[in-house]
Amino acid sequence: MSAPSASPADWSPRTPAAPTQACAAAAAGRRILVWDAPVRVFHWLMVASFAGAWLTSESERFRLLHVTLGYTMAGLVAFRIVWGLVGTRHARFSNFVRGPAAVTRHFRAMLQGRPEQHTGHNPTGTLAILALLGLTLAVTATGWAGFNDLGGEWLKEVHEAVASVMLTVAGIHVGGVLFGSWIERENLVRAMVTGRKTGRPQDAIRSAWRSVALLMLAAVLAFWWLQWQSAPADGGVSGRPADSVKFEHHDHDAD
Ligand code: HEM
Repeated sequence: MSAPSASPADWSPRTPAAPTQACAAAAAGRRILVWDAPVRVFHWLMVASFAGAWLTSESERFRLLHVTLGYTMAGLVAFRIVWGLVGTRHARFSNFVRGPAAVTRHFRAMLQGRPEQHTGHNPTGTLAILALLGLTLAVTATGWAGFNDLGGEWLKEVHEAVASVMLTVAGIHVGGVLFGSWIERENLVRAMVTGRKTGRPQDAIRSAWRSVALLMLAAVLAFWWLQWQSAPADGGVSGRPADSVKFEHHDHDAD
């Protein structure tokens, strides 16, 4: 394992930190920077956008907000894919995407109450993370196509079905995070806020890359502001007469 590195990509070792027993990290006992600011801002913007999009999905009145949050998620995932290639050490896919053998080993160890310690994402949690990234692209692509009348009623059904699968996976993800926090005796939610976890100094990233996170946040806020400016008086569907909208949810459009 090499010393902590600096560059945009924290370019040092591309190999994942070798799993050790949880007690080894506890023995190390240091709080180290693991999640850079772009990963954290990305994550919480995803949570907020997904929650907002879900809550507004049935309302015609909030259609523009729903669509805006969907586009936001698509943009965030596009950013995350790039950051997964060039970002800091634990943000890079090459550092946390593992094969089935590693997933099985990690899962077994967890069930046996001997959790492996991974400085970055663990192999089991990574499954949900990759699913959420893929499902975001699927849900936003079907949403966009439907919103632009590129399909019929079936597309709406697919969009809603993918969104429901995504909600389920998000639930599993949160359950897994809570379980992981308990079994690894590490508050993973707090780590996704502060960026810090218990670990060995040589596994730390050196820079939080706050400037990149600020740029991302500014881009999202600017996009939201632009969308707000283009909102029609009825607050509904941007730039489109209400009766031309074929992609709507009628279930409880009480608004
Ligand atoms: C309140 C609900 C949520 C909490 C508390 C939460 C918490 C977390 C935590 C602690 C991690 C890091 C896991 C680890 O240590 O390996 C994480 C990662 C992640 N979560 Fe969540 N999560 C939530 C909801 C969501 C939702 C709704 C989505 C997707 C729409 C999502 C997508 C992701 C992704 C993509 C990652 C990987 C982060 C990265 O490497 O960029 N999460 N989440």
